[in-house]
Amino acid sequence: MPNVTFVNAGKTVRVGALSNLRRVALGAGVPLYNGLAKLANCRGAGTCGTCRVHVEPAEGLTPPTLREKARGCTGPYRLACQAQVASERHDLVVTKMEGFLGKGKQPQAS
Ligand code: FES
Repeated sequence: MPNVTFVNAGKTVRVGALSNLRRVALGAGVPLYNGLAKLANCRGAGTCGTCRVHVEPAEGLTPPTLREKARGCTGPYRLACQAQVASERHDLVVTKMEGFLGKGKQPQAS
């Protein structure tokens, strides 16, 4: 089973293939939203963009969904609510960047 490390929270959890990244984070008590996005988010519907995270390696997740592509979330940038762990092969490192949409250049302070 792969490990998912949430850099900002300093937490690592073991997950199975096809685990949803948003559910993994929230289930582990890892904050996924910045500022007002804690209240104003779509709760995983894939429409608000506030759950955006940076994930390495990108190939450790299922391919971006149409909703992710519409928001420019490809490569290492993904919507946690849409992304699933692709397989047992890759441990993942997840970083939440600063800003309402998580598009900042610096990691969000924990
Ligand atoms: S929670 Fe709104 S896009 Fe993921």
